[in-house]
Order: sequence, then C-alpha cells, then structure tokens
Amino acid sequence: MMRIAVCPGSFDPVTKGHLDIIQRGSRIFDKVIVAVLINRNKSPLFSIEERVQLLREVTKHIPNVEVDSFEGLLIDYLREKKAHAIIKGLRAVSDFEYEMQMASINRLLEEEIETFFMMTNNQYSFLSSSIVKEVAKYEADVSTLVPPIVELALRRKYEEQKEK
Ligand code: PNS
Repeated sequence: MMRIAVCPGSFDPVTKGHLDIIQRGSRIFDKVIVAVLINRNKSPLFSIEERVQLLREVTKHIPNVEVDSFEGLLIDYLREKKAHAIIKGLRAVSDFEYEMQMASINRLLEEEIETFFMMTNNQYSFLSSSIVKEVAKYEADVSTLVPPIVELALRRKYEEQKEK
C-alpha cells in the first residue's frame, strides 16, 4: 500500500520552517501532498494560486511532493486523495493545545487517519508566516526565514501595496 500523507496549512507564505517539515515528511512517506486551505473567511496576503505556485517552486527538488489546494474538511480531502496520515510541525508547547484539539476532532471524524507531529528544527521554533510578513512589511531582511523566491515575492507584494 502506498503511504500517502497530507501536510495541510495556510502557507501565507511558505517559510523555511514549513519546508523543513515537508522535506522530513517526504523521507518517511511515499508521497506527501502539501494542501493549501482555501479559507473564504480570511484575507491572506497571497492568493491561493500564488501560495500554490511558491510551494511548487520551493519543493520542486523533492520528487514525491505534490502541491494542491482544498476547501472544506481536511478529513474529506484525505479520503478523496486516499491518504491515511496528516503531517504537522510542532514549534513549541503553545502549539500543542490547538494541534491536539485538531488531531482529536479529525480522529473522531475518521479513526483510520493518523496525525503525525514532527518537532520543528530548533532553528525555526519561533518562526511563523505572520512573523515573516510583519518583518518583511518593514523591509527588514527575511533571507534566513524564507527561501529566496518567497523573499522576492514578499518584496514585490509590499511594493505593489505601497504603489496603490
Ligand atoms: O496553517 P494553519 O492556518 O495553522 O492550518 C490550519 C489547517 C488548514 C490545518 C486547519 O485549519 C484545517 O485543517 N482546516 C480545514 C477544516 C477542518 O478540517 N477543520 C478540522 C475539523 S473542525
């Protein structure tokens, strides 16, 4: 049986912390589908298409990683993709409560699906897309936090916003 895992998230935008989790997950599972949530209640900085595109660029060297988007319940998406595992990164104790709640509800909805948590590399334990956006907005250096293509996309996005 092919072991397929889904790594879900908002990825607005993808950071080096996300990439670390995706990379490590790809060594454990036969296929990892990175799935960007389409959430109509949020106003993200990057559109779904932009986030998917950035993720495709930064994972193109990993042959068993696919990038997609989904709407609705994560568990339904896993069923559609015939996936049996969810991969999540845990940065700090503060992530634990929310992640435990999500893993528990997902398990209740579909007991065949397992959530796998990976400790984020210490280097990225403080890192989030929100922090990256905050720093990039004020034109500070984010090169240690995101891949170069994301750094460029952030710079362009904030320049566009300034021009408006
Ligand atoms: O990067 P994020 O924003 O922390 O990712 C959260 C995500 C996408 C993993 C989570 O919001 C999710 O799975 N949403 C889909 C809806 C769902 O299945 N919710 C859980 C049951 S109520």
